[in-house]
Amino acid sequence: MAAKGKTLWYCTSCGNESPKWMGQCPACKEWNTMVEAPAAPKTAASAPALGGAERKPLKLAEVAMGSEERVSLGIGEVDRILGGGLVRGSLVLIGGEPGIGKSTLSLQIPLCCPSLKVLYASGEESARQVKMRSDRLGGDPSNCHIFCETIVENIIDEAAKLQPDLVIVDSVQTMSTSAAESTPGSVSSVKEVAAALLRFAKQSGIAVILIGHITKDGFIAGPKILEHIVDVVLQFEGENRGAYRILRGIKNRFGSTSEIAVFEMTGKGLKEVANPSEMLIPMHGEALSGTAVCAMLDGTRPLLFEVQALVSSAVYATAQRSATGFDARRLNMLLAVLEKRAGFKLAQKDVFLNMAGGLKATDPACDLAVIASVLSSNFDFPIPPDCCFAAEVGLSGEIRPVSQTERRIGEAARLGFKKIFISDFSPRTPQPEGISVVRVADVPALVKTLFRE
Ligand code: TYD
Ligand code: MG
Repeated sequence: MAAKGKTLWYCTSCGNESPKWMGQCPACKEWNTMVEAPAAPKTAASAPALGGAERKPLKLAEVAMGSEERVSLGIGEVDRILGGGLVRGSLVLIGGEPGIGKSTLSLQIPLCCPSLKVLYASGEESARQVKMRSDRLGGDPSNCHIFCETIVENIIDEAAKLQPDLVIVDSVQTMSTSAAESTPGSVSSVKEVAAALLRFAKQSGIAVILIGHITKDGFIAGPKILEHIVDVVLQFEGENRGAYRILRGIKNRFGSTSEIAVFEMTGKGLKEVANPSEMLIPMHGEALSGTAVCAMLDGTRPLLFEVQALVSSAVYATAQRSATGFDARRLNMLLAVLEKRAGFKLAQKDVFLNMAGGLKATDPACDLAVIASVLSSNFDFPIPPDCCFAAEVGLSGEIRPVSQTERRIGEAARLGFKKIFISDFSPRTPQPEGISVVRVADVPALVKTLFRE
């Protein structure tokens, strides 16, 4: 009988290990995230053979520098996020909530790029299910090999025989290794599977795409644990109800992480959205109160979208505040600024805020559009649909400049906007053609130009 294996406690949020249970993870300070799992055998996880033959220190200048061989995946936006194609021998993790479209995207790769020999290992769906999906997606399935298997060693053996250009493993949570005794999906099993695939990728030079689920609340053995093992982490985000999905680079050893790509989920799979702003700005053409367009920068890419606010008389004694896609604390702060610095009595009002298209607004430049939409709804006074906004709002009601204002102005002009509101303190740049730039210094000045003209 095997001796009882040593067990360790792992944090499901950051992967920190501890010999005993703790209420709070000392590394990431999250509460109740520790789970118990058998300790991984020393050999596998701790010794991935990455160096190749050279095992002694070299001068950096002496390192032979073959240019990284990259292959195109046939989906332009994915290639762009990866930094110009997939690097041979790299391990890429695609994380996201269940149902967001990870399997769809990864199956679209072999269908869009039949010159690529792909081994698609599915631990979640049967070969028939994958076939049904691929029929729906269209494309050329001639060079895609499907393998339904949940033991990672068997997948690696088959891949070694088949010598594909790319192996896709769907998903890390369903796979197990014959080396570890843990159940699939547990922390140590997820780590082992990823380490085995990493070793395979580095030794064979075959790229591997690994799919991992994240759940909204307290995911078990989520891809967070894998972030430091893999070369590239791409995260799929978006509202399941909405049609738009954003693929975001979180980590990339071969390129920048400030890129995003926008996809639309259609009846025939995911379609690239080349000009996301065009989809996210108002379709109605006429001016409605409570909406304002924000010129946000997501990564390095300017993105224009509609901010919607609804201000109504409070139903309960305490006014309700709710924000979708925007930080609720930031909304409260902006409302307090409006109350204190501009004399608006919003305390007796319910305020609801929504970012169109299920987007998450993380750029401080959204502040001005949020304030404008709240005021517009409060006064029931529409903002002209050819106006947009890009500035941060400070605690004393001052309107502050944001980074790369020219790029935001450029994108707004390209999309046919006639007016953009920015901070008066932004650097003076040459006046672009076709759009007038309105500089405002504080909230009262904004109100004056926008609503009292
Ligand atoms: P899926 O790729 O299975 O998600 P994941 O692997 O991330 O769990 O995608 C699931 C959703 O996408 C599913 O709810 C149905 C929808 N879908 C479409 O709308 N159109 C399509 O062509 C396909 C294949 C899926
Ligand atoms: Mg799936």
